[in-house]
Amino acid sequence: MESKRQKWLAGNAHVVLDAVVDAIITMDTQGIVQIVNQAAVDLFGYQAHELEGQPITTLMPEPYRSQHMGYVDSYLASAQAKIIGIGRELVGQRKDESTFPIYLAINEVQSAEGVYFVGIIRDLSEHKAAQEMLLKQKDHLAQVGRLSTMGEMTASIAHEINQPLTAISMYAQACIRLIEKGTPNMNIVLEAVRKLNDQSLRAGAIIERVQRFVQNVGGQRELVDLNTVLLDLRYLAVGDARLHGVELVFDLAQPSPKLLCDPIQIQQVALNLIRNAIDAMFEIDCKYGRAIKVVSSVSEKANEKMVEVRVQDCGPGVDEDNAAKLFTAFHTTKRDGMGMGLSICRSIVEEHGGELNFCNNAEFDKNNHGASFYFRIPLGGEYE
Ligand SMILES: Nc1ncnc2c1ncn2[C@@H]1O[C@H](COP(=O)(O)OP(=O)(O)OP(=O)(O)O)[C@@H](O)[C@H]1O
Ligand SMILES: [Mg+2]
Repeated sequence: MESKRQKWLAGNAHVVLDAVVDAIITMDTQGIVQIVNQAAVDLFGYQAHELEGQPITTLMPEPYRSQHMGYVDSYLASAQAKIIGIGRELVGQRKDESTFPIYLAINEVQSAEGVYFVGIIRDLSEHKAAQEMLLKQKDHLAQVGRLSTMGEMTASIAHEINQPLTAISMYAQACIRLIEKGTPNMNIVLEAVRKLNDQSLRAGAIIERVQRFVQNVGGQRELVDLNTVLLDLRYLAVGDARLHGVELVFDLAQPSPKLLCDPIQIQQVALNLIRNAIDAMFEIDCKYGRAIKVVSSVSEKANEKMVEVRVQDCGPGVDEDNAAKLFTAFHTTKRDGMGMGLSICRSIVEEHGGELNFCNNAEFDKNNHGASFYFRIPLGGEYE
């Protein structure tokens, strides 16, 4: 049997070799090419006789050329296969010096004449091109994904920019009234104009955030004092809270956690939650009270310190029907709502590696009304 096989191989080996679609190159222990098949000729653009007798490295550009010789040497020296038996991706070089990605697997063969190596080379050009195409498409999809939320983005700008615009208009009106009265108290006017300036800067910052989102650039993070960021809400929510006679009650973690975040974004989230809380409480004519609690705390989850900010209201709470849709863009139960607030909040919190959720207060205190919306964000800085 064996001799029949050997006989057949002796007569047909070259036919089989040339029929193989992968390039096959045999070389001696010095890395000198002995035999190449037709696929190798086609792949590298050399004639068989041009390659036979040449070092295998002729088919590789630098730095693979030097590295490869190193591998063969070290294999022979240590008898430890570095590339032998294991395929690896390399770069091949054709006769015209153009390069292309290849997959090279080398096997050691023991024959009567001694050890030699058989290299099997596969052209990865198409495979790589397909991979790159896939990557590009992924990028493109991500971009399209972002742009398809363009409608949401436009809505988001409109939604967020409304807060500072309302405040700007309020401060401007206050200035007009003061000045119309004649001999205004310049200190009060100055204070109002300063706030006006703050709010217009804030409007600019919000637009910048939206631009960053569209361009897919991460927000600017800084290490901030969480309590200061939250206490600022008293001034920022002034347009809403004071108008409605609602009281913001702060219960903040002490000492104040240091949070690595974009403070403007975090304030936007808290502000949206506060606005929703006010709406909810007024929906039932504040029959359970007018206080909104803003609570911060630090907890540890899977060895990671998380800061939690909770906005707790005494509105009607969230019913089951509504619960599933709350975070969907454009879902609103309000006559003049856009339904954007919570989806904006969620995207901001998730960009910070956190989560946003809610519960009805009755879940932790059955005599309690209303809902608590909370977000948790990894601390990112040292908790001092
Ligand atoms: N504190 C809350 N208590 C009860 N229901 C709430 C509360 N916050 C939000 N909701 C419900 O979630 C819905 C979606 O809120 P979201 O902030 O996304 O939009 P919106 O407030 O309706 O409109 P806007 O885009 O102006 O914020 C609200 O319409 C309301 O039904
Ligand atoms: Mg809202």
